[in-house]
Amino acid sequence: MAKTIIEPFRIKSVEPIRWTTRQERGQLLLSAHYNLFQLPAEDVLIDLLTDSGTGAMSTKQWAAIMVGDESYAGSKSFDHFRDSIQDIFGYRHVIPTHQGRAAERILFSVMCKKDDVVPNNTHFDTTRANVEFVGAEAVDLVIAEGKQPSLVHPFKGNMDVEALENLIQRVGRERIPLVMITVTNNSGGGQPVSMANVRQVSAVCRRHRIPLYFDACRFAENAYFIKLREPGYALKSPKQIAREMFAYGDGCTMSAKKDGLANIGGFLCTNDDLLAQQEKNLLILTEGYPTYGGLAGRDLEAIAVGVQEALEEDYLRYRIASTAYLGTHIAAQGVPIVQPPGGHAIYLDARAFLPHIPPAQFPGVALAAELYLEGGIRSVEIGSLMFGGAAKMDLVRLAIPRRVYTQSHIDYVVEVILEVWKKRDSIQGLKLTYEAPFLRHFTARLEPVEQAVLHAV
Ligand code: F0G
Repeated sequence: MAKTIIEPFRIKSVEPIRWTTRQERGQLLLSAHYNLFQLPAEDVLIDLLTDSGTGAMSTKQWAAIMVGDESYAGSKSFDHFRDSIQDIFGYRHVIPTHQGRAAERILFSVMCKKDDVVPNNTHFDTTRANVEFVGAEAVDLVIAEGKQPSLVHPFKGNMDVEALENLIQRVGRERIPLVMITVTNNSGGGQPVSMANVRQVSAVCRRHRIPLYFDACRFAENAYFIKLREPGYALKSPKQIAREMFAYGDGCTMSAKKDGLANIGGFLCTNDDLLAQQEKNLLILTEGYPTYGGLAGRDLEAIAVGVQEALEEDYLRYRIASTAYLGTHIAAQGVPIVQPPGGHAIYLDARAFLPHIPPAQFPGVALAAELYLEGGIRSVEIGSLMFGGAAKMDLVRLAIPRRVYTQSHIDYVVEVILEVWKKRDSIQGLKLTYEAPFLRHFTARLEPVEQAVLHAV
C-alpha cells in the first residue's frame, strides 16, 4: 500500500495567496515594529499565526449554513447544535457562546470568587486571564516532562496528580471550585493528555468533591493521540475515546474555532442544573439568548457538522501526520523543536535556536520576524514577550490551520525554516520601544538591539 499520506479531500474553491519581495517584507516588518500581529494579512504568504477560526469548511458545512434558522428563540439550528454536541460530549446543558473565552468568562464568573485557586495542566492565556479577572489564582500543574522541550514522552500534557493532591491539601478543597484539564495542552506544545491521567485526576476530584472541567478546544486531536499511543485504544474510534474522556468530567468550555472546524463560535457545557441556570442568566446579559449565544443560526449549523467531521479518522490521520511531517523534517536537520510534534502546531525552541540572544532580547520574536523576512511565513512567539520575566521557554509556534494548506505548502515552510537555520548566527535580538499595560504581545513595538545602541550614541 502507498505510504504517502494525502489530504483526504479535494479542493472546490480556492483563495489566492500573494507573494511579496524580500525588500517589501523588510519594509513591512519595520512598519509592523517587528510584531507580526501588526502585519496586514494579505502581505503574509503562509499564515501559521493560529489554527483558531482559520480552518476550511467542508461542502457539508456550507450546505448546513444555508439551512441555518435565524429565529431569535427556539431556533431549529440550536437543536442540531445541541444534539450534535451532546452526542460527543454527553453533558446535560449545552450553552452556545461566540468563542471559547466567552465560555471561560461565564464559567469562572459563576464558579469562582476572590482567593480561589484553579488548577489546570497549563492555562491558555485567555483562560488564565479570565481566572485572574475574578480574583482567583491560576495554577499550572503539568508533569515535569512537559516542561522540557527536547524530551520525548507520549503524553506531555498530563497533569501531575501528586502535585494536585498536594495543592488540595495545602489550600483546602473549599478554595478550589473546579479543576481543569486542557486537551491538547496548547501552551505546553500542543501535547496530549492520556486517558489514564484523566481517570486519575477525575478520581482525585471525585474524592474531594471538586468538579472537573475540560478546556476541550482540541479534543479530537487529543482523542487520536490516545488511539495511537495509549494501550487499549487502538481499536476504538476517536468518538468513542472522546465520549469516554468527557464522561470523567462534569462539563467543559470549548472554542469551536479549533476542533469545531468553524470560523467562529464556542460553547459551555455542564451537568449541574443550578450552575446552568446561573450561566444562562449571565449569557443573556452579554452574549444573547440561550438558543443562540452570540452566534447566527448558520454558525450553529456549521459547528454541529464540524465537531463530527473533526472526529473522522481519515481526517485525523492526515491532520496529525501532516503536523508531524513538518516537525520531523526540520528536526532531522538539527532544528530544535518541542518534541514530539504536537497536534495542531510545531513549536520551535527559540532559546536553543538562537543561543546568542538572551531571553530579555526576545529570541522568539526575533526568530518569528526572520521567518517572515525569509519566506513570508507568519508564526507567533510564545515566550518572553507574551509572559514577561515569568516565561520558562521562548517558543515560536507554527500553528497549522485545519484543511487549508497542502503538502507543497508544508514543504515550502520546511525549506524556509532550514534557510533561517543556516543563517541563525546573524539574527539579532530585539528591544521594546512600546508596551501596553496588559496582554502586551498583541500591540508591542520592537526594534533590533544594534539599532537601539546606535540611537543611544
Ligand atoms: N483555550 C485554549 C487551549 C486555546 O488555545 C484558546 C484559543 C482558548 C481557550 C480561547 O478560545 O480564542 O475561541 O476565545 N487559542 C487560540 C490560539 C487563540 O491561537 O491558540 P477563543
